[in-house]
Parts: sequence; C-alpha cells; structure tokens
Amino acid sequence: MSDRIHSLSGYMQEYQKSVHDPENFWARIADSFHWQQKWDQVVNWNFEEPNVKWFLNGKLNITENILERHLFTHGDKPAIIWEPNDPNENHITLSYKELYHKVCQFSNAMKAQGIEKGDRVIIYIPMVPEAAIAMLACARIGAVHSVVFAGFSASALADRINDCQAKMVITSDGNFRGAKTIPVKAVVDEALEKTSSIESVVTLKRTGTDVMMKEGRDIWWHDAIDGMPFENKAEVMDSEDLLFILYTSGSTGKPKGVVHTCGGYMVYTSYSFRNVFQYNQGDVYWCTADVGWITGHSYIVYGPLLSGATSVMFEGVPTFPDAGRFWQVCDKHQVSQFYTAPTAIRALQAFGTEPIAPYKLDSLKVLGSVGEPINEEAWHWYHDHVGKGKCPIVDTWWQTETGGILISPLAGITPTKPAYATMPMPGVQLVVVDNEGNELKGNSVEGNLCIKYPWPSMLRTTYGDHERCRQTYFSSFPGYYFTGDGVKRDEDGYYRILGRVDDVINVSGHRMGTAEVENAINEHPKVVESAVVGYPHDIKGQGIYAFVICDMEGRSEESLEEEIKQTVNKIIGPIAKPDKIQIVPGLPKTRSGKIMRRILRKIASGDTSNMGDISTLLNPDVVESIKSTAR
Ligand code: WT7
Repeated sequence: MSDRIHSLSGYMQEYQKSVHDPENFWARIADSFHWQQKWDQVVNWNFEEPNVKWFLNGKLNITENILERHLFTHGDKPAIIWEPNDPNENHITLSYKELYHKVCQFSNAMKAQGIEKGDRVIIYIPMVPEAAIAMLACARIGAVHSVVFAGFSASALADRINDCQAKMVITSDGNFRGAKTIPVKAVVDEALEKTSSIESVVTLKRTGTDVMMKEGRDIWWHDAIDGMPFENKAEVMDSEDLLFILYTSGSTGKPKGVVHTCGGYMVYTSYSFRNVFQYNQGDVYWCTADVGWITGHSYIVYGPLLSGATSVMFEGVPTFPDAGRFWQVCDKHQVSQFYTAPTAIRALQAFGTEPIAPYKLDSLKVLGSVGEPINEEAWHWYHDHVGKGKCPIVDTWWQTETGGILISPLAGITPTKPAYATMPMPGVQLVVVDNEGNELKGNSVEGNLCIKYPWPSMLRTTYGDHERCRQTYFSSFPGYYFTGDGVKRDEDGYYRILGRVDDVINVSGHRMGTAEVENAINEHPKVVESAVVGYPHDIKGQGIYAFVICDMEGRSEESLEEEIKQTVNKIIGPIAKPDKIQIVPGLPKTRSGKIMRRILRKIASGDTSNMGDISTLLNPDVVESIKSTAR
C-alpha cells in the first residue's frame, strides 16, 4: 500500500505533514480502504467533554476490508497460521478464502441465535482460531465484542457481563496450556449464576473436557454452524458505531470498558502495523500476545489481517515442552516479524542460550517488544541471541485506550536505543507536562506523558460511564489526553517511558489497579484493611506486594496468607495474586486518613533507608514496625 514509509527522511516528512494538516494526512490513508459510503468530515473533536469522532458519516464494515478486499488478490494466502499447545498436534492454516467462509458461517450462526447489530457478545475463549473467527463474525454482523482474557475468574467475568449487559457468551470446553488442561466452560457456568442478561452460550469443543450443557441456553459451536451458509452480507456500520469494548484496570476499584469504534480503529491499526513492522507480502508475522488483551486485538487480528498479512496464533506457553518452544515455532513457520513482551524475554533469558542453540532463526527480520519498559539487559539479550545482532527491535509504547502503537521505531528505519520507545508515530502529538500541567518544551525533560491532538484509534468513551472517561483521561491536565505514564525526552528528542505515575501496577505487561487488588483482598473475612503497591520483580517487571491488617484470632500467618491469595484468585484470577503478603499492625496514614503509599513502595522495594519526613503521619511508629518485618 502507498502509505508505507521507507526512510528516516520519509518518516520526518510524513510526521511534519501529519502535524501541519492532520485532516489531509489521515484522509489520504483512509482512502485506501473500502468504504460503502465515504465520510464527509475527517475529524471532529474536543478534549473537554471529551468528544472525538473520525471519518464522520463514513459507512463501512471492517471485515469487508479484511476478507472481501483480499479475496481476489490473495484468497489462497494464509491469513492465520495456528500453532497448537502440543508440538505433536498438527498446526492449522486458514487462507483468506477459508477465513472468509468461516467468518460468514459463524456470523449466520450468531444471527440464528438471535444476535443483532448493537448487541454485546462476550468472547471468553483460549487462543484458538475460533477466537479470531468469533471476533470477526461479531464485527461482520455489527455485534459489539468484548473479549475477556480466559485467565480471569468467574467473578471477574460476571462483572464484565453485567457491566455491558451482554446477550451471548462464546467459549470453549477447556484450554490446553503447557502440561495442564484448564476448564473454561465451567467458569462461564459459575459466572452466569451472577448474571441475567445472557440468552445463549456457544461452546467450542477443544479439550474434550466434560461440560454441563443447559437446555435452551447452551449450544455447541459445531451444532451452531451446522447447515449455515458460507456467505453473509456484511452489516453497514457507521465509522463511529462500536466495534468492541475491552475492559482494563485503572486506579479505582472497578475495571472500565474501553470503547473502540469501527472507522478510526481500522485505519490506525493497519497503518501502524505496516509501518512499525515493515511488513512485506510473503512475510510471516507472529505476535505472542493473547487475544484477551488489546495487543491481541490490534496486532494479531485486526492490524495484520487488514493488511493482508499472515498472522501466527499460538495456543501454548514459551516454556512448554521446553524453553526453546518460541524459537522452534519461529523456524517451523519461518517467522519474519516476532513480537513479544519483556517479561517473556526475561523468563527465557533465565534459561540461558542453550534452548536457542538448536534453532537457526534465520527467517527473523524484526523483533518487537510491548507491554512494559524493556530493561537494557533483556534488550541486549533479545538483540544478540534471538536477533543474532541483525534484527532491529521495535519497542512499541501504547495502551488499551490508544488502540494502536503510538511511540515506536519503524523497523530498520528509526535508529534505536536500548530501552527507548524512540519517536511518535505520524499523527501523534506528544507533550510532556509537569505536575502543574505546564508543557515542558525542548529536549532533556522529564514529566507526565500527554497527547494534545486526537488520533483515529483513540478510545471514545468508557462503556456506560462517559464521565469516568473524562475524569480518568482528560481532567488531570485540561486540554490533553493523559496517559498515566511518566516519560523522559532525552537530548536527542527520543522518548523513554518511565512507568506509571498513578496507582496502576504493570505485572508481566498486564495492568492491575492497586485498588482492585485491595478490594479483592478485603473480601477475606479476617482482613481489616489492606494496601497494595508494586515492587521491582526480576521476571515480571513489577510484582504485587500487599500490606494487610488482619484479625489473627485462630489463624497462623502462613494460613492467612494462603487464604488471601486464594481469595484474590477467586475474585480476579491468578494474574492478580500478590507475590508477597506482609501482615502488619497498621498502615502509615496522613492525618486526613490517606495511606502514604510512597513509604510502602519504598519498603516493598527493599529500601528501608531514609523514609523522608514521616513526622506528619498520624502513626509514625507503625513505619518502624513494618520495616522490621518486611519481606
Ligand atoms: C501500559 C498500558 C499496549 C499493549 C499492552 C499493555 C505500559 C506498554 C510499553 C512500552 C514501556 C509500556 C505503559 C502503558 N507499556 N508498552 N513499550 N514501554 N511501557 O496495554 O494493559 O493497556 O497497559 O503499559 O505503562 O500505560 P495496557
């Protein structure tokens, strides 16, 4: 496509154009898509309400741009290569033509189950091709998908179903993950005891695990598609109709439903995919994320497939059957672009280079990193041992809310620096502001990362609660979108992300709100109060450290700690389980009753030296006591 950038000077020119005349810039890119009706205005926005609309009154269906658009030119090209958990099971390749038929067929099945345009559908399914098929079928008929990561608990799933009042759940009997088989449908059944909006559940048979099928509600995937036609007329969608909701954690207790719409998301995810990864026809691209996160949405499914790329989907884990699995898959499918998370790199780094040795890795051209700051050591290991020193690393910064990559090198074009996300994508106008909201101009500055102009794939609202969207992202620094991240712009104008400045912890590249974990801990009947902070963790980036005040009567510390972990597991899921729990007599509080997290963060990170001024605390003595029993 004509919007590919090929050189650093090309990037500079595109960037300048995108800032001086954003409307023409994006109109030109949007022009290469198939619109059933062209938009009549490129963008309409203000960051006060906020109100952001792109490609106004444009009509399209994103799946026509994925499927029909590619059928004639490369219908036989692999769209998805699915690699199973067990290396001895056969992989599956779906060409664009096959994907088209499967999506149409499942679209018809969903309609037969009573799903209509605008209905919300929960997809709670592991990494199988049907995950992508279900997402695209929703998009085809205009249903709004909300994929919930299959590692979330029944209670977390129920909250999400209730928040968006979903009508259908698409799931599987179970999930193969490493050496384990994990029940999935049983979790859905438990969740549905706490919800009332779901009318039907479609279950894919994957593991053969025994499941309960409720009469009148449950249907097997294979029965649902039986006899359904392989053609389906795509629903006409407005640019600003909802495409999906994806729940993400924030600094308050309840996860929020980030809303993305059809037109802008389509244009931005595919544009950024092609440019960041420098994808060429014939390349095989692999992103190891799960479809339950935004990375899976934008850079396994939508971005690559909109670009007519071949996208690898992997069911398994990096260490099964051994720590060479990623590299074996790279060789097997001749992967050209490989995109993963720093936490996975660090986990594999711990096994040394031996598991890499048997593999050639000579098909690799580009390596990507996403989800958290990549430390220099991991960057070098990735560069030297995986990329053999010849593959540029694209360290891509973005968020669930941004929909697509906003800061990143363009592979092989932007000179990289370890641990730097480097430069903004065209169309992305970054600002660094101090805590008072003053813009820090020039280079060699550090502050809060904000954005001053909309980009097509930005969130439009938080589902069912627009005020929360305004509060969270547009009120801290009026006139700007606030990312929640701290950033440094160095002497060369390069951006380095310093991590969250709010009460959000980044655990293995997954976002957890401290308040959300605290609420879960507080559900335990013996817990009086808790405070959760992040601390540096060798593999996970950040670990979860919980300070808990408990009623100890009749309990040992060990048994309570285990029970608290189980409580969190049940309420949120294993990803939120605290790594360390310290039972404390009290929490350091200001006179107004606010927990002094600064002190707790310091203790959690193992630094018990100078605590700063604690004389204004309500209970300064408690600090000594917490220090003396720190984990
Ligand atoms: C937060 C967003 C974007 C998909 C995965 C996470 C952190 C993300 C980077 C990076 C440093 C990064 C930020 C951001 N983050 N990418 N390349 N370097 N930090 O999506 O769950 O919405 O989390 O992840 O702190 O705000 P998410």
